[in-house]
Amino acid sequence: MAAVYSSFESPLQTINHPLLAARKIQLTIKRDDLIHPQISGNKWRKLKFNLAAMQQLGKSELLTFGGAFSNHIHASAAAGKLFGFTTHGIIRGPELDSENPTLRYAKQCGMNLHPVDRVTYRLRHDQNYLAELQHQFPNAYILPEGGTNSAALLGCKELAESLPPADYIICPTGSGGTLAGLIEGASQSTTVLGVAVIKQAEYLITDIKQLSNRAKQQQNWQLLCDFHDGGYGKFSANLWQFCQAFNHQHDIPLEPIYSGKMIYALWQLIEQGFFAPHTHIIAIHTGGLQGLDGLRYRNLID
Ligand SMILES: Cc1ncc(COP(=O)(O)O)c(C=O)c1O
Repeated sequence: MAAVYSSFESPLQTINHPLLAARKIQLTIKRDDLIHPQISGNKWRKLKFNLAAMQQLGKSELLTFGGAFSNHIHASAAAGKLFGFTTHGIIRGPELDSENPTLRYAKQCGMNLHPVDRVTYRLRHDQNYLAELQHQFPNAYILPEGGTNSAALLGCKELAESLPPADYIICPTGSGGTLAGLIEGASQSTTVLGVAVIKQAEYLITDIKQLSNRAKQQQNWQLLCDFHDGGYGKFSANLWQFCQAFNHQHDIPLEPIYSGKMIYALWQLIEQGFFAPHTHIIAIHTGGLQGLDGLRYRNLID
């Protein structure tokens, strides 16, 4: 199953801008948002080896977890439709809003949506709860929220290994899985930067070290915790304006929750002189553009 897409590669796009020229910075964006219209970015990177593991284990269904606007739920549902397996989404409820574009799409793909109240949703890592779900869905391969596990790291490691040499690789960070996988695959002469999209993200440093031995042993990475712009799902008018202007100038769509927050942070770092002249930076566009529909639906953007 994973082999179907293993030959799909996303392009690298060089960015030309007066700020980059003035600071003598070479910026390339890895356009993982273009991997597939519905299963893009780090969602595909994380799913790829999980789908292979699911097949190897002889499981015919995928069960996973997410909030009502989750990119991961959207991508998992799309993968189920594309590859022809049953999907189950345990959705943080308590109720389902059938007009929500993410859930509507997931349902159209055939995903079975199981809303649970917030107390139950909090049990999503609890071994007894997971055993109960496995009993209820014996054919299901259970994938954690956001798709982060050791198989997910392999996909992000593969991404890092596929990149040309660079001084820095930068990505947005939610759970830390993508960053951990990139650290696994990056050369030791490359510094891997994660832009935390949540408030008070310092605790993720421990999680990332738990996910990746190389993160535990090596110093060539950093989690930047000052660019959350208000916290998860929050963003300033300036950030959203930046996303729109960037799209206009470079023809690269950004959403303000992950990819846009990361590029906005990168821009500020470049302006502040964080990077020495002649530095080559590769920024990973992790997709998530389906989230724009959800933001419009909630009137958070025009
Ligand atoms: C589009 C997008 N980019 C980045 C991330 C953050 O990835 P991670 O949770 O692996 O840190 C997510 C969340 O999974 C996401 O949906």
